[in-house]
Amino acid sequence: MSKTEQSVIHIWGQNKLSGEVKISGAKNSALVVMAGSLLCASGCRLRNIPGLVDVDKMCQIIEALGVKIERNGDAIDFDTTGFNCHTPPFELVSKLRAAFFSIGPILARLGVAKVPLPGGCSIGARPVELHVRGLQAMGAHVEIEHGIVNAYVTGSSKRLKGAKIYLDYPSVGATETLMMAATLADGETILENAAKEPEVVDLANFCIAIGAKITGAGTDRITIVGVKELHEADYSIIPDRVEAATFLVAGAITNSEISMFPVIPGHLMAAVAKLEQIGAKVVMDAPDRMRVIPTGILKGTDIETLPYPAFPTDMQAQFMALLAVSEGNSVITETVFENRLQHVAELKLMGANIKVKGNHAIVEGVARLSGATVTATDLRASAALVLAGLAAHGKTTMQGLHHLDRGYDCLEAKMRSLGAKIERVRVNSEGETVYRYGEEVVKV
Ligand code: EPZ
Repeated sequence: MSKTEQSVIHIWGQNKLSGEVKISGAKNSALVVMAGSLLCASGCRLRNIPGLVDVDKMCQIIEALGVKIERNGDAIDFDTTGFNCHTPPFELVSKLRAAFFSIGPILARLGVAKVPLPGGCSIGARPVELHVRGLQAMGAHVEIEHGIVNAYVTGSSKRLKGAKIYLDYPSVGATETLMMAATLADGETILENAAKEPEVVDLANFCIAIGAKITGAGTDRITIVGVKELHEADYSIIPDRVEAATFLVAGAITNSEISMFPVIPGHLMAAVAKLEQIGAKVVMDAPDRMRVIPTGILKGTDIETLPYPAFPTDMQAQFMALLAVSEGNSVITETVFENRLQHVAELKLMGANIKVKGNHAIVEGVARLSGATVTATDLRASAALVLAGLAAHGKTTMQGLHHLDRGYDCLEAKMRSLGAKIERVRVNSEGETVYRYGEEVVKV
């Protein structure tokens, strides 16, 4: 691709959708469970891994640590017998927050870890002091210099010690880092005020499958009794609740009835409750098959993002797109990240009527959005702009696809399979299509 070319997604709105779509494995499970593979003395197999840029990056990081990786379809085989490096590559880790969580397993297995601080991203500073303080409570010495976290365990055994740790905030990543570190520590660790997200429970279930002694995952108090070694397992991760919620909104915003599977309905309670308040029914056709049925009327409502099981921050942007075309006023309050309202400016380019005051977005529903050229600002914002494009009159062109590809597995292909008019193309500096993904075309 020449430097003046870029990939964009074109969406022609107002198409009805229909049919059923398959939900991929959860990104925020896959990445942390892949880090958890480092805990295994010999290796493991993970299944239902989504096809994402971040998964590819995580594979590169784990291979750089001495692990042999073999991918076939949505399964990944890890051979960890050669795992001996305690310094994941800087240029990869600094761009992938989940990679920082590998500090837990690296320290637990090798007694030393040098992991770059994860860069902040567009949604916030993303500090890691809760991770660091917890590791220090478990006996690690931690110094941070030049953007690198140097952690090591003294003593001949180089083994972390169990500790009672209170998390000031139920941080998902800190809970996961410390839970993984504690699985091989000497003694019992208690995590108080732990995160309860389904991805934390999925990681705990993986660790239990490889022989860890963990109780209380999914509650705010997790107890881990350290063991000497962890064995292999063949583990399949949970479906992605954020992707499922994105398709629920796709049905509601285009007034279409669509189904999705597999889903775990218990992971979608907040999203389903809000969707039914706004104006769509959600039914289960089977224990893992969900269908959204629009009622034809969309009414505004208020949303506040909070730790699980409250409304998830990762679904906030997608619901804002829906509320932008719902009757009446809605107030969206983002309490988890300090800068996760950047999609407001892009939605306004499409005619949305939204005002930001601090961490509140006041949305006044409009009758219609109009297609425009917009730029994704973060992963979930990119999904919100696709959803807005499905509802808008005319053509929307979305730039900034690197955000989308980090967290969605073939979103446009899945939307197209439901009847959306959407395509990914490469355009030159004049905006002319020079290549259409999925089919070879000469300059159009
Ligand atoms: C995980 O990030 C997810 N990422 C995020 O998903 C998700 O939005 C977030 O949890 C909340 O659910 C992965 O799992 C890879 P946190 P994480 O620690 O662990 C503050 C997506 O779009 N905090 O629960 O980084 C932090 O700044 C991504 O898929 C500290 O202050 O989230 C934030 O304000 C985005 N100090 C709040 O806590 C710390 O040491 C929640 O962060 C750690 C966190």
